[in-house]
Amino acid sequence: MSTEPSSPLTLPRVQAANCRSDFDLTATELVTLLELAADVKRHPAHYRSTLRGRIVSLLFEKPSLRTRITFEVAAKQLGGDSILTVGPVGGREPVADVARNLERWTDLIVARTFSQTTVDDLARFCGIPVINALSDKYHPCQALADMQTLKERWGGWQGHKLAFVGDGNNVAHSLMLDCARLGLHFACICPPGYEPDPAIVARAGEFAALTGASIQVTNGAEAGLSGAGAVYTDVWASMGQEHEAAERARLFAPYQVNAELMSLAAPEALFMHCLPAHRGEEVTEDVIEAASSVVFDQAENRLHAQKALMLMLVDGPAV
Ligand code: CP
Ligand code: NVA
Repeated sequence: MSTEPSSPLTLPRVQAANCRSDFDLTATELVTLLELAADVKRHPAHYRSTLRGRIVSLLFEKPSLRTRITFEVAAKQLGGDSILTVGPVGGREPVADVARNLERWTDLIVARTFSQTTVDDLARFCGIPVINALSDKYHPCQALADMQTLKERWGGWQGHKLAFVGDGNNVAHSLMLDCARLGLHFACICPPGYEPDPAIVARAGEFAALTGASIQVTNGAEAGLSGAGAVYTDVWASMGQEHEAAERARLFAPYQVNAELMSLAAPEALFMHCLPAHRGEEVTEDVIEAASSVVFDQAENRLHAQKALMLMLVDGPAV
């Protein structure tokens, strides 16, 4: 039986109607969301009726373990429920029609799509919130959980440094944008030709100028890892890029996160990975299994951070 007091909750609301990408939350809203995520984690029982009667549409064009399960568990633990559809969004009918059907029956859309355009179109054509559950460009839910994990370890973000090693991909983009807004120095260390999108780097630079963070993009591991308190990597070939896997394996081999590469970061640096991990490719077994690895904390925090995100976008219980 829970010993937690049942106090009435005043939940913060964001101005944004959606989380199509990290840009939909302001820096202030991001901090508020992460505070809420910490409270949700500490006092889950306080939140068990907060989305009572609300139904979440989960649209997944690509495979998922963490994102799918955490959204399903989150919806249920907040008093709501979810319905999963796997397959192309907009295959049988226009995305605009999918959006305008779902808004008539459900309260929130969570979409994992190949193209960012599909997420944007869902949001454009419906009046219920849309959350990006990973697209080719962004993975905002992952970055929220990662920022929560770092705060738990460090007590804050300001002045620390996170180094991302590998492909300048969706995960790198979202991490960069959140780090910049939270005052966390960010380095992206990638092979030539696999740098993050310059437009996103430029926007991150603008955020960083306001918080005192720095954004570094480099092909050199030593420069990027110097002073890093956390080293992050992701698969070399993302979902949809499987046909490039062999070529990428050759080009990315010098960027494998192994003990030698970790030694270039700060002593006791954390190891991070969004998972799924390919041991022996982007990370070695000893590094991911080391005591400094926080990969399962990151995975756990997906649940709490996404609960907070849903609470900030959906209008409370249905009745
Ligand atoms: N990290 C992550 O998004 O995992 P899934 O692909 O399993 O959802
Ligand atoms: N960059 C990876 C992340 C998986 C969670 C992908 O898009 O497949």
